[in-house]
Amino acid sequence: MKGIILAGGSGTRLYPITKGISKQLMPIYDKPMVYYPLTTLIQAGIREILIITTPEDAESFRRLLGDGSQFGLLLDYAVQPHPEGLAQAFIIAEDFIAGDAVALVLGDNIFDGHSFSSALPQCRRPGGGIIFAYEVSDPQRYGVVEFDAAGQALSIEEKPAQPKSSHAVVGLYFYDGDVVDIAKSIRPSARGELEITAVNEEYLRRGALQVKRLRRGDVWLDTGTVDSMSEAAAYVEVMQKRTGIVIGSPEVAAYHEGFISQAALRELATPLLKSGYGDYLLAAAED
Ligand code: DAU
Repeated sequence: MKGIILAGGSGTRLYPITKGISKQLMPIYDKPMVYYPLTTLIQAGIREILIITTPEDAESFRRLLGDGSQFGLLLDYAVQPHPEGLAQAFIIAEDFIAGDAVALVLGDNIFDGHSFSSALPQCRRPGGGIIFAYEVSDPQRYGVVEFDAAGQALSIEEKPAQPKSSHAVVGLYFYDGDVVDIAKSIRPSARGELEITAVNEEYLRRGALQVKRLRRGDVWLDTGTVDSMSEAAAYVEVMQKRTGIVIGSPEVAAYHEGFISQAALRELATPLLKSGYGDYLLAAAED
């Protein structure tokens, strides 16, 4: 399975912060935002990952992450000239996907939780599409999934004014190789975007969409606004200090997946000791 991190967009909801820097390179406590979704893909056991950015920010992402070999990954880069919708990622990535199954994660979504991360490897053969729902208090900000009494998904709507449920669709999606043709077949929405919700609706129509509900204890944070970004940073700080376990570390996830050795993890830690982040890596190597 291939992976895509979509890290473009205009970031206008975070202006003026994001006028000069990509949103997904902003810090969430002690590491750049993109580390979190990258960690999620690694936890799913995915090694080949395409990072889609704006043309202006591509160089900064390359400087940060390079070719991924330090994490035992193959990282590649592509640009999205204009933010024309999440589903456009599959069209941009067509050659990279090359007919394989693919996971898409949004560059501003943060996931945490043991039961969540241990369920990810099972999504590598989606046989259609697999998406996740999370109960929130403000579903009108998201894609919303409606379930029947038996827990089967009935409908999915993008940012409905009157949501049919409080189950938001999170920014992590697993699809089979049909997704490229589906993305090509959908039309832009009223806001001029190729919506991921339209892709999910097509899988639902085909009877090929699994909607998994995140469990209590699993955490999903999106960092789309100034408030949600600072809440996410507070969450990471509190949890890391309290448990001593780092959240959103591609180095540690790569070590746990067997992508890099213990010696390699120790080596990655050395230049990072001054900031404190390296200490978490050393602790994980000793664990
Ligand atoms: O966070 C989950 C939600 O993400 C889902 O519930 C919604 O169904 C889905 O449409 C999406 O909604 P958002 O309003 O949060 O999407 P937003 O436009 O903020 O884009 C999400 C991220 O993707 C953001 O970091 C910017 C990036 N992006 C967005 C677009 C539209 C791109 O890189 N390219 C794009 O064309």
